[in-house]
Amino acid sequence: MKSLIVANWKMNPATLQEAKVLFDQTKNTGAVICPPYIYIMALGANGAQDLFWEDAGPYTGEVSALMLKNLGVEYVILGHSERRKYQKETNEIIAKKIIAALKNGLKPILCIDKISQLNFVVKEIENCKLEIKNLVVAYEPLFAIGTGKPCSIEKAKKMRDSIKHPVVLYGGSVNSQNAADYINQAGFQGLLVGGASLKAQEFIAIVKNA
Ligand code: PGA
Repeated sequence: MKSLIVANWKMNPATLQEAKVLFDQTKNTGAVICPPYIYIMALGANGAQDLFWEDAGPYTGEVSALMLKNLGVEYVILGHSERRKYQKETNEIIAKKIIAALKNGLKPILCIDKISQLNFVVKEIENCKLEIKNLVVAYEPLFAIGTGKPCSIEKAKKMRDSIKHPVVLYGGSVNSQNAADYINQAGFQGLLVGGASLKAQEFIAIVKNA
């Protein structure tokens, strides 16, 4: 199976012009590229970094799953540890967003660093009688995110083996040197790439190696 590689640009870059350059350099990799909301339309990107759980209404500053779907977005990152930390997102909030994504035909990428976070969301999906097959899980150990200290292959494999879900990505300090090991040795179906997705040549090398 071909690996699913997802670029999480986070809050970068600062100008649309830079975003266009980076997008043009990396779009042919076949990766899912998740830029900040404001660039999605201009780039025609197929990924987003968040959404709000209602479809429309008085929710200042928010963007809905329906809006993203109507723009042609396919994947959305939800429950990222940075949102859990800075926006104080709870498992309850994240589950509502995942359900909104699934109801609107998006493929949510649920970021977790422990199994309990996944179990909570799975239970909510089952309660709503929604199909779970479009859910993508991303295992992102906190210590590895943005630190340059990737998870050991042994620990990552152990975690992959304990997640009973068909599509699980690894994320956290992925680079072109370690990318292949998470796929071939630890058994992940793809990668969620933060910092290295902003460096075109490095990102292209990750996709090539994965
Ligand atoms: P990183 O970020 O690749 O910079 O560690 C990964 C992520 O936060 O998704």
